[in-house]
Amino acid sequence: MNFELTEEQLMIKQAARDFAVRELLPDVLERDAKCIYPERQIKMLAELGFFGIMVDPKYGGGGMDSISYVLALEEIAKIDAATAVIIAVHNSLTAYGIEHYGNEEQKQKFLPALASGEKIGAFLLSEPEAGSDATSQKTIAEDKGDHYLINGTKNWITSADHGGTYIVIAQTYPDKKHKGINAFIVDRNSPGITLGPHEDKMGMRSSDTHSVMFTDVKVPKENRIGEDGFGFSFAMKLLDGGRIGIAAQAIGIAGGAFDLALKYSKERKAFGTEICNHQAIAFKLADMAVKLENGRNLILKCAWLKDQGKSYSIESAMAKQYCADSAMEITTEAVQIHGGYGYVKEYHVERLMREAKVTQIYEGTSEIQKIVISRALLKD
Ligand code: CAA
Repeated sequence: MNFELTEEQLMIKQAARDFAVRELLPDVLERDAKCIYPERQIKMLAELGFFGIMVDPKYGGGGMDSISYVLALEEIAKIDAATAVIIAVHNSLTAYGIEHYGNEEQKQKFLPALASGEKIGAFLLSEPEAGSDATSQKTIAEDKGDHYLINGTKNWITSADHGGTYIVIAQTYPDKKHKGINAFIVDRNSPGITLGPHEDKMGMRSSDTHSVMFTDVKVPKENRIGEDGFGFSFAMKLLDGGRIGIAAQAIGIAGGAFDLALKYSKERKAFGTEICNHQAIAFKLADMAVKLENGRNLILKCAWLKDQGKSYSIESAMAKQYCADSAMEITTEAVQIHGGYGYVKEYHVERLMREAKVTQIYEGTSEIQKIVISRALLKD
């Protein structure tokens, strides 16, 4: 078994790290406090190729593997997880969904603008009454012959406002339950789409999150992805990959908090010595490091399975659950190690702790991941 990263993988990891330190760190606290979208940084990341990182070069992408992608996401999330989630939803869900399940015409029409970052991708699955219970879609896509008419409401949508290309999941045949669901590529500026107010979130405050209302939104038939009724299976397949990205984001947040806590513990003195010399702190650091190492290994194994074309559904649920729960534990301990300083904004760890929380919630809560894992274990 080869645990060595390739030169290309190390290069993209370093490029993401350098970018995050140079361009994201200086104003991350201000963007978090005032919910400012990272407009300038998103444009630069697009120019650097981060929005087409895994897309085939024939559609304008970088053609890199999933390992390179998760390494880049981790480095960006270490500094600014709100920017990382914009990249993650765009790449893992929207671009990947069109490239791997769309037809050739759809790929040629939509992928180049996504790969260049000219259009940012969003994924519209969750609804006010269909969060964890994703089969209970109430948004209707009525078949009108040459087009569909979409009516309903989606919520918690990352990049709802700044996104240009939506993938919308909606029910066409309610009596068929999940087998009646379809997926569509929808232009964000289509007549009939309106947004709710910006959600004032606990963390990830500079990414834009809104409800999206559809009123008689006309979508051409050729924008449906896959066969009639493929939408739910499509969404689940995408979430398998999406969860690797969220795991990488979670471990990035945790790694950022760990680095800060380690540094602080070597500088801060109490009871006559640097606090890292007290076992109470040293043992915390050891526990945090073990969780980070385990989480990274789970993520890399998943990304490797995906790159090999092997099944990774269970592994991605394991990675997502473990990394998200560990991120919450690690960031909480990072605040604890900082004592009172950890509780104020300028030390960053309280922000990282707030950012960690949502990784236990979006793209399936930790409890949903346990459902996926336990069902696989109990299946005969
Ligand atoms: N791949 C392919 N198909 C799958 C699948 C997978 N990983 N998992 C399930 N399916 C299929 C099943 O085979 C089944 O199909 P058949 O009936 O044809 O066999 C069908 O989907 C229904 O499966 P279940 O019976 O398991 O469905 P369920 O309702 O019991 O539960 C669930 C499924 C795992 C709980 C699912 O609803 C789920 O993952 N919920 C969480 C939803 C979620 O993650 N939402 C995130 C929103 S996106 C987001 O957060 C993006 C963002 O902006 C950050």
